[in-house]
Amino acid sequence: MKRRILVTSALPYANGAIHLGHLVEYIQTDIWVRFQKMQVDEEGSPRECHYVCADDTHGTPIMLRAEAEGVTPEQLIARMHGEHTLDFKRFHVAFDNYYSTNSPENRGFCEEIYTRLRDRKPSLIEKRPIEQFFDPVKNMFLPDRFIKGECPKCHARDQYGDACEVCGSAYAPTDLINPYSAVSGAAPVRRQSDHYFFKLGDCAEFLKGWTRSGALQPEAANKLDEWFKAGLSDWDISRDAPYFGFEIPGAPGKYFYVWLDAPIGYMASFRNLCDKRSAVSGQPSAGAPAPQFGDFWNAGEAGKANTELYHFIGKDILYFHALFWPAMLNFSGYRTPSKIFAHGFLTVNGEKMSKSRGTFITAESYLKQGLNPEWLRYYYAAKLNATMEDIDLNLEDFVARVNSDLVGKYVNIASRAAGFVTKRFNGELANLDSEDIAFAYGFYKATAARSAENLANAYEARDFSKAIREIMAFADLANRFVDEKKPWEIAKQSGRDSELHQTCTLALNLFRWLTVMLKPVLPKLAEDVEAFLGIPKLCWADLGNALPAGHRINPYQHLMTRIDPKQVQALVEANRQTLQAAQQPAPHSQVRHPEAQVHAHQPLAAPVTMDDFGKVDLRVAKIVNAEQVEGAEKLLKLTLDIGTETRTVFAGIKSSYDPESLTGRLTVMVANLAPRKMKFGVSEGMVLAAGNGGGIYLLAVDSGAQPGMRVK
Ligand code: 2FM
Ligand code: ZN
Repeated sequence: MKRRILVTSALPYANGAIHLGHLVEYIQTDIWVRFQKMQVDEEGSPRECHYVCADDTHGTPIMLRAEAEGVTPEQLIARMHGEHTLDFKRFHVAFDNYYSTNSPENRGFCEEIYTRLRDRKPSLIEKRPIEQFFDPVKNMFLPDRFIKGECPKCHARDQYGDACEVCGSAYAPTDLINPYSAVSGAAPVRRQSDHYFFKLGDCAEFLKGWTRSGALQPEAANKLDEWFKAGLSDWDISRDAPYFGFEIPGAPGKYFYVWLDAPIGYMASFRNLCDKRSAVSGQPSAGAPAPQFGDFWNAGEAGKANTELYHFIGKDILYFHALFWPAMLNFSGYRTPSKIFAHGFLTVNGEKMSKSRGTFITAESYLKQGLNPEWLRYYYAAKLNATMEDIDLNLEDFVARVNSDLVGKYVNIASRAAGFVTKRFNGELANLDSEDIAFAYGFYKATAARSAENLANAYEARDFSKAIREIMAFADLANRFVDEKKPWEIAKQSGRDSELHQTCTLALNLFRWLTVMLKPVLPKLAEDVEAFLGIPKLCWADLGNALPAGHRINPYQHLMTRIDPKQVQALVEANRQTLQAAQQPAPHSQVRHPEAQVHAHQPLAAPVTMDDFGKVDLRVAKIVNAEQVEGAEKLLKLTLDIGTETRTVFAGIKSSYDPESLTGRLTVMVANLAPRKMKFGVSEGMVLAAGNGGGIYLLAVDSGAQPGMRVK
């Protein structure tokens, strides 16, 4: 039976860059999808598999970030859409459609699903008033993550409203001592408003049945059992204006919470794909017929059409995908997912990704250091399995493994055989008909057939680490053939041309089979191999067949270089931030809670008296020289003229200023700061600059002021 599959990856927020943690999921899904697309089903037709995703664009953090950047949310999300699309393309993550949750299709589905849930008898939507913190300056309700204050347990300052990052205790925002709004710094007040709830508790029986249907990994099903035992609470799906999102029908000023419209974005992206495909399906260039939306999503039709729906997600968003989502779908007349595939988090060198250790690495910065995206795809594949365990990117092992497996074992086969075929045989392949080569061919063909089956099972089951072990075992066998035959020695002896020709031909065929096996993981390399061998796109059925005698290959060109450990060191160095910068809230951390991603405004400091202020001697300073400091990542060395003397000051402004542009400028310095011994010398004061972890802005003084003038 022909399989018809729809696959999604979680939608990344539109306010952060794609990083190596995100890529675990996109690479995992992409490998699975590419494997499916290489398959041919029983009737001989290619398997149907669609892979859709989108930017997750709504919510308060995106609204505030746009405001802080002085752009509209639409402008911000358009820019991020461009950046994300490019990152994915460069890592060869090939969506059939990459859309946006801020789309007319998504609005339509949100309204439809909501009204269907609301209009059920008994209704699954309930309106009730709740009391929340409200920012009287910004005129907005504050979600927990936007309220900060002193931890009630350990008294650490500036802690978020839901949990303390210092002592780890969880609490309600109302427990915070001296709470303040992270948006404006104002003291919040309590205010009531009506909210809309999805009555999840009323879906418990259905959800228990669905959990037992085999749609979840065993660890995920256990987690759900825990949640069932604890009892399912109703889910608040509304937010008050101002909010960037879709207004709820019949509820002016109320918006759908971002987590309601995000998964519906899977449907919207697929709907958009169907429409785009059907718009071109009449044209001569059109391939397969356009998929029909209803076949994949409508409860009645999906069963008849025998379609499958899979969501790849991180384990932290299981609650949304395994409870809210199937319940919303089921009670609004849509099909439920066939399976939810949850994966673990990424650790780097055994620890959480960290800015201060330089292991919080964006897709862009990885590429900027000249690292090959397929190295990472391979390493992730070698580590991934079907469980929710975390996967570790050990940077030393990354270098060793890629170099030894891909360059040492795989590419090496082609590089050892191709030269002879080109130089000695005009690039043409031989018949594999001598007794010992025919025997070897038979042996490898049988082995490849067995491997192909194990491999297909491993790919299908998302046990990619097993797939890679299987592939490398075959690569070892192929290398053994080349090592034993020693073509470089046969080549030196006269009268052994045919043996040389057949040996190299078989080696190249083994290399070609390995390329088929690796193609879901290394699509770009496979494309280069197709060009080198002068063959059409490799598919699964090519495994085990030899290319015909006389087939001409192209001259061998380097297919993959080794990783230089220095490149990886440079990557870590480029991402390392000083402790102070690292303590800023991560704008795109692995934390999936959208409200964790706010750029907090720093609250005003406690008042000081005039006397206190008078103790600080601020002076106009002229920058007479500014230079780089060897070995320092952030610092520039400034020589400042303050009228009566010159001072040397090390200032952490390198990221925002070219030293040349500073010479001759007037600024303000703290002239009576006690000298501080730093790694690069003694700093005799401090220049004043504004900044909040992003850009740095040196204070300027109007022309006419003289160096040394007191600043009051
Ligand atoms: O956790 C996140 O990054 C969310 N943006 C994922 C949304 S997945 C889906 F529900 F859309
Ligand atoms: Zn605490």
